[in-house]
Amino acid sequence: MTDMKKQNGAVLLTGGAGYIGTHTTVALLEAGFDVIVADNFSNSCPEAINRVEQITGKKIKLYEVDVADQKQLVQIFAENKITGVIHFAGFKAVGESVKLPIKYYRNNLDTTLTLLECMARFGVKNLVFSSSATVYGDENPSPCVETMRTGKCANPYGMTKAFIEQILVDVAAAHKEMSIVLLRYFNPVGAHPSGLIGENPGGIPNNLMPYVSQVAVGKRDKLTIFGNDYNTPDGTCQRDFIHIMDLAQAHVKAIEFVEKNCGLDVFNIGTGEPYSVLDLVQTFEKVNGLKIPYEFGARREGDLPVVWADVSKAARVLGWKAELNLEDMCRDSWNWQKKNPHGINSSRN
Ligand code: UD1
Repeated sequence: MTDMKKQNGAVLLTGGAGYIGTHTTVALLEAGFDVIVADNFSNSCPEAINRVEQITGKKIKLYEVDVADQKQLVQIFAENKITGVIHFAGFKAVGESVKLPIKYYRNNLDTTLTLLECMARFGVKNLVFSSSATVYGDENPSPCVETMRTGKCANPYGMTKAFIEQILVDVAAAHKEMSIVLLRYFNPVGAHPSGLIGENPGGIPNNLMPYVSQVAVGKRDKLTIFGNDYNTPDGTCQRDFIHIMDLAQAHVKAIEFVEKNCGLDVFNIGTGEPYSVLDLVQTFEKVNGLKIPYEFGARREGDLPVVWADVSKAARVLGWKAELNLEDMCRDSWNWQKKNPHGINSSRN
């Protein structure tokens, strides 16, 4: 295996201070990689990087930049020997993307195009892109398989992921030396077991696990479960929840993979096991010894009844599979939330 250490280079993580970025930074550092983080803190904070340093005992080279700002990005590539990039930077709030589509298309596409131009200029060939199960849209039955037709997404956020995937397919076809992996995440939840880093949403959470955790910590009165009349075993939607620690590990495998290969490959990153919204709530209650007050409400527009992954390709080709279960996810999410009832937002010291 050729790896970054032997090449004396670093992996650049755009959006590396975010939820998935921080956990991936920990995993990469622990695997022996050098990591550089570029983040403009639009939806994260410098304290998250302090926490990563606390966990790993390593100093992180951090650039506060907007990845769409070519001048600033060029400076990072000029100052460092970068051998690969993991591209997380992007807006991700589904509801906001419906209201502000131009903001989403501008930001998510601009960051990617600027990054690609910069990588070409400096001869950096290896890229892992943070994609989403959302690209499967509502036309594909679960389990979702990487070979399915994608791109009919229900909202602009999802469409940015689909468009970027297409851009990367075209780039890989035209530039044979490039090595690109698209990771399609299912539903990332959980936190580092230390409770030092975790998901840190601003405002009212849109996603299920942060909402459940905030009910548990007393920040919200009760959870509304969106729909209990779906054609599923308990009437609530089913999802493929994946522990963030497993997801982080998938990035280590992916960056090792792009180092050894050329072309473009796509991998689903999930557990391959569907659980319902009620399963998650009940497991959270059981493992943490808590009651989560909830009520059933109307279906949420755009929700699909059942979404889960076929994960055989990641196992076969990347040698990766999820090891943590729903109990681990619920335990670690609560551990993070109770240690950081108001999240984290102070500045880097
Ligand atoms: C959502 C996005 C998806 C994005 C992903 C990021 C939509 C339609 N999809 O996936 O594009 O990639 O987040 O993690 O928004 N639920 C409740 N009550 C709540 C919150 C959620 O019942 O307060 C239910 C939802 O109806 C859904 C399930 O929990 O059935 C999971 O929801 P969520 O965590 O928002 O994830 P997804 O919708 O699967």
